[in-house]
Amino acid sequence: MIYKQPMFKNEELKDKVIVVTGGGSGLGESMTRYFLQLGAKVVITSRKLEKLNATAEKLRLETGGDVLTVACDVREYKAVENVLAETLDKFGKVDVLVNNAAGNFISPTERLSARAFDIIIDIVLKGSKNCTLAFGKHWIKTKQASATVLNIVTTYAWTGSAYVVPSATAKAGVLAMTRSLAVEWAKYGIRMNAIAPGPFPTKGAWDRLLPGELKEKFDIKKKVPLKRVGEHQELANLAAYLVSDYSAYVNGEVITIDGGEWLQGAGEFNMLEAVPQDLWDMLEMMIRSKKKD
Ligand code: HXC
Ligand code: NAP
Repeated sequence: MIYKQPMFKNEELKDKVIVVTGGGSGLGESMTRYFLQLGAKVVITSRKLEKLNATAEKLRLETGGDVLTVACDVREYKAVENVLAETLDKFGKVDVLVNNAAGNFISPTERLSARAFDIIIDIVLKGSKNCTLAFGKHWIKTKQASATVLNIVTTYAWTGSAYVVPSATAKAGVLAMTRSLAVEWAKYGIRMNAIAPGPFPTKGAWDRLLPGELKEKFDIKKKVPLKRVGEHQELANLAAYLVSDYSAYVNGEVITIDGGEWLQGAGEFNMLEAVPQDLWDMLEMMIRSKKKD
């Protein structure tokens, strides 16, 4: 399948320095792998240094690329400033920030403590804000010619979703920040875009969103018109495009990559997918006969 293949083949990200938050696992790791294959230097950051170091070592062996690991809780502005300082120290500049780190779990909202709600808002919204503000200030102060922020949101940033309300609230804020700063910071050469993934299997997301028997009970593929989940490479392809100079005129955009999942949930009559083909002759006849009444 072509969508499982790398889209760019050469060193399209050569010499770019990219910081990926939450880069030690899941989609962050997959994006990092591809950025390295395309010649970028990548800094991966999250709370657990041991995990980051193991991922970095694996990716160095696989790609021969240059990866720096920095432990950072994105909720702490000082820790984020330290990521920036270590990046500049090692690579001399930074071109791209990917706000990918997130926290989430399913729960009826009334069962959440105030702290539990805060934790998700703080990781997703405050964390993305902390990184964007620290890096943006740096780019503006140093008059860097161009820079890019890529935010990983989800489709329920605009539809909302029951049972993941803190996450939906926070991702909606990140999307609003993306669109707002796309305009405000364009004059500084800073582009802001977002990707809204549908279901992409990762341990971090699926253990928390479909724990235990829920995995068997809800076949997530059935929610997707294309009847499959996402491949990490196809998301990495989109991310590579959005952080590359090929997308230089794309600004303030959120690109959905979900096989049509959210639209299937939204369309008033989409439930008619369940009607078997051979029933349509009869249904059409019934509808047409109404005209004669
Ligand atoms: C109710 C819960 C809970 C649960 C935790 N809490 N789990 N409340 N139901 N299932 C409460 C705790 O009791 C505590 O509140 C508060 O939340 C914080 O919990 P801690 O364990 O102390 O926090 P921490 O160790 O910082 O862990 C953060 C975390 C954890 C978010 C809870 O899951 C985590 O580290 N996640 C990181 C990775 C992740 O979530 N990846 C998935 C992203 S997927 P009290 O009041 O008791 O102190 C994603 C996909 C979206 O975003 C779209 C899919 C299609
Ligand atoms: P994941 O592997 O759990 O990724 C989340 C990452 O965030 C982890 O590496 C985690 O590392 C890091 N993180 C969590 N809290 C942090 C904090 N306070 N400070 C710094 N880093 C922190 O899950 P994933 O599925 O790859 O998710 C990646 C992104 O895709 C998220 O933004 C998620 O919302 C989005 N997304 C995923 C899906 C999907 O189906 N997988 C769908 C839609 C959107 P540490 O634990 O080491 O800190």
